[in-house]
Amino acid sequence: MIQKTGTLYGIGVGPGDPELITLKALKVLKRTPHIFASTSTKNTYSLSLNIVSSYLHGVQIESLPFPMTQEPEVLQEAWDKNARRVLEVLTSGSDAAFITLGDPLTYSTFGYLLKTIKHFDPAVRVLTIPGITSYHAAAALIQTPVSEWEESFLVVSGAAGAAKLRDVIDLTDNIILLKTYRHTDDILATLEEKGLADQAVSISRCGLDGETVVQDIRALRGRPSPYLSMIIIKKKGKGF
Ligand SMILES: C[S@@+](CC[C@H](N)C(=O)[O-])C[C@H]1O[C@@H](n2cnc3c(N)ncnc32)[C@H](O)[C@@H]1O
Repeated sequence: MIQKTGTLYGIGVGPGDPELITLKALKVLKRTPHIFASTSTKNTYSLSLNIVSSYLHGVQIESLPFPMTQEPEVLQEAWDKNARRVLEVLTSGSDAAFITLGDPLTYSTFGYLLKTIKHFDPAVRVLTIPGITSYHAAAALIQTPVSEWEESFLVVSGAAGAAKLRDVIDLTDNIILLKTYRHTDDILATLEEKGLADQAVSISRCGLDGETVVQDIRALRGRPSPYLSMIIIKKKGKGF
């Protein structure tokens, strides 16, 4: 008998509050026997796993280490190794899920894993279940629209400082700046230069212990921010 290859589910578990997970994600998680969660190479902690741990019973949970580096060869090696491990489980006939924070196709390790798995085996069945993004949860927390009427909004990475912000700041009405934690001072300087420091708000650890909203982001100058931090900029006024 030919063994059927399992399906891989890429599941977004939402940004932190365990209740911000979709019904579909929950249903799939409850029936999938093998759950993969990404971790750093330095420890085995997974926030995604923490978010859904109360929903998981009697399933196999496996960490996949992804290095926090920009070195392409080191990254490729990790993606290849992790993709091969996932394929090993799928070809044994088992379904598997890869859980990710927020949405799995928004600044997520799942994007790389998906590409690598498809590269190794284009026929493998993958279903992606979207998740509530961190910035939609943050907008709900501060009760302000992401965009209205004819406005645009851009989601930008602050991982390399304010460079990307400077690229787009004159082009859009609203900006969501993710991964701001290492570069708050650079971002703040750019916003002050543009006269936009008062139109920005910082949200950290939305839906998690230590959740913080800082309305005057000048208060963040020279202070370290948690990894889970973002800045929302409303050029036409915060309105909150
Ligand atoms: C690798 S990205 C993950 C984005 C995620 N896939 C999403 O859909 O929102 C990590 C960044 O998302 C933001 N983030 C994720 N969860 C968050 C939370 N609970 N509170 C604040 N920011 C969060 C932070 O900017 C963090 O540096």
